[in-house]
Amino acid sequence: MNKKYRKALIAGNWKMNMLPSEVKPFVDALKLELPKQKSCDVAICAPFVVMPALMKATGGSRIGLGAQDVSAHDKGAYTGEVSVSQLKDIGTKYVIIGHSERRQYHGESDELVNAKALKVLEAGMTPIICVGESLDQRERGLTLAHIEYQVKAALYGMSEEMIRRCVIAYEPIWAIGTGKTATAEQAEEICGHVRAVIRKISTARTARSTTILYGGSMNAGNAAELLSKDDIDGGLIGGASLKSADFAKIIAATAQ
Ligand code: PGA
Repeated sequence: MNKKYRKALIAGNWKMNMLPSEVKPFVDALKLELPKQKSCDVAICAPFVVMPALMKATGGSRIGLGAQDVSAHDKGAYTGEVSVSQLKDIGTKYVIIGHSERRQYHGESDELVNAKALKVLEAGMTPIICVGESLDQRERGLTLAHIEYQVKAALYGMSEEMIRRCVIAYEPIWAIGTGKTATAEQAEEICGHVRAVIRKISTARTARSTTILYGGSMNAGNAAELLSKDDIDGGLIGGASLKSADFAKIIAATAQ
């Protein structure tokens, strides 16, 4: 992390876990476990139906409300979709865009990721844009080219100011939910590459100020080492965000 230039963020991604009725006991425990010192921003990205309970339980705390997806349409006849204005109306601050599970299981394209990110920015919320290579791409030496393409496509048409308001999460697909974390060096290399791509399409100042996260089996045991790297400004945490004590330890690891 380089807190001189950018904000650190630890964001939980609950995926399709947690019942609305389970939220209050979880948040009550987390509030007691959170470090007193505020060394990063904190968010939890919950399923849509769980978000109102999360909003209620976290009210007045430092935990920001996040969603895991959003529609690229404004309103109207899009059965099953949720709009940016609906998310904004309940107090949402962060929206995960283009998670690899959405790209893989719901066919989300880079164009759609870009359209959704633009909508989220227009509404004044923060998109957490996910990029990452598959194991096959890594083994064939395509990681850098793939990440460059994904970052450029996701940020297409954005001004410097808009890019600075984005959070990019580097999540190697082979490390998500597998227990196989990228080494701190591997994660740093690609997060640094993301920053270099931003520098190329924007300015050095924008690249320096954009928050870049690592995600993929980050946990209470490996967070401190990953977060000690200059270009890793925080984490997008799946499994370990479902255990309040582990999530709090990851948040505490940003104090270094
Ligand atoms: P994981 O998930 O921490 O369970 O690997 C991370 C993510 O998919 O965002």
